[in-house]
Amino acid sequence: MEIKVFNTAAEVAEFVSSQINNKVSTKKDAVLGLATGRTMDAIYHRLVKEALQKNIDYSQVRGFAVDEYIGLVKDSAHSYEKYLNLHLYEHLNFNKENTHIPATRSDDIDQACADYESIIQSVGGIDLQLLGIGLNGHIGLNEPGSCIESRTRVVALSSTTRSSNKVLFRGDNVPLTAVTMGIGTILESKECFLIATGETKSDIVQKVINGDINSQVPATALKTHTNCKVILDKHAAKLI
Ligand code: GLP
Repeated sequence: MEIKVFNTAAEVAEFVSSQINNKVSTKKDAVLGLATGRTMDAIYHRLVKEALQKNIDYSQVRGFAVDEYIGLVKDSAHSYEKYLNLHLYEHLNFNKENTHIPATRSDDIDQACADYESIIQSVGGIDLQLLGIGLNGHIGLNEPGSCIESRTRVVALSSTTRSSNKVLFRGDNVPLTAVTMGIGTILESKECFLIATGETKSDIVQKVINGDINSQVPATALKTHTNCKVILDKHAAKLI
């Protein structure tokens, strides 16, 4: 893993968004794996601004959400589908048919998970995978104990994750389960960015960087990725 530390979260956003826009400029039909969450807010904001300024064409770009909750009502404000529409897709000229989210309302979710993997394969795999990190080291929603070979599947959310995301639900219940790309799915991406900003992530970032590969800290699996950058602000990096 290559580690890059910037002074501020704004500089992290500037770096990551320029990398994504460069990728799309050189490969019009780039396949992006898209994380959600608070860390990604500033990144998508900056990405959209730069893409509009530079008139970058996203019409052939494919986006695959890393994860989605199970059990939300259709069009829920808490869904990651909504998140990606609001923060990214609707600001650029994405084609709706090129944007993908795990089908958590399917009657056969296991089949839908297998189909998600097949669609990723059919477009040549993920060129650039963006990831945040949970306080317990989760990537996507691969919670502690997730197998390094895991694929897109239904997972139970840990109490740490549910309590960390509770504030975003403003009084509504945080779902108990979700669908996430697996660690194996993520490791097949051609390039991967693990992004963390803010002091609250400093402890888990330290465990990932200084620790051995350990399924109790799922992000450590990224140490086996051949092209993974860990991109931090100085607050998230303060214990490394
Ligand atoms: C959430 C998301 C992840 C995200 C992580 C960090 O639960 N499902 O995809 O990367 O946890 O979230 P945040 O950036 O809000 O801290």
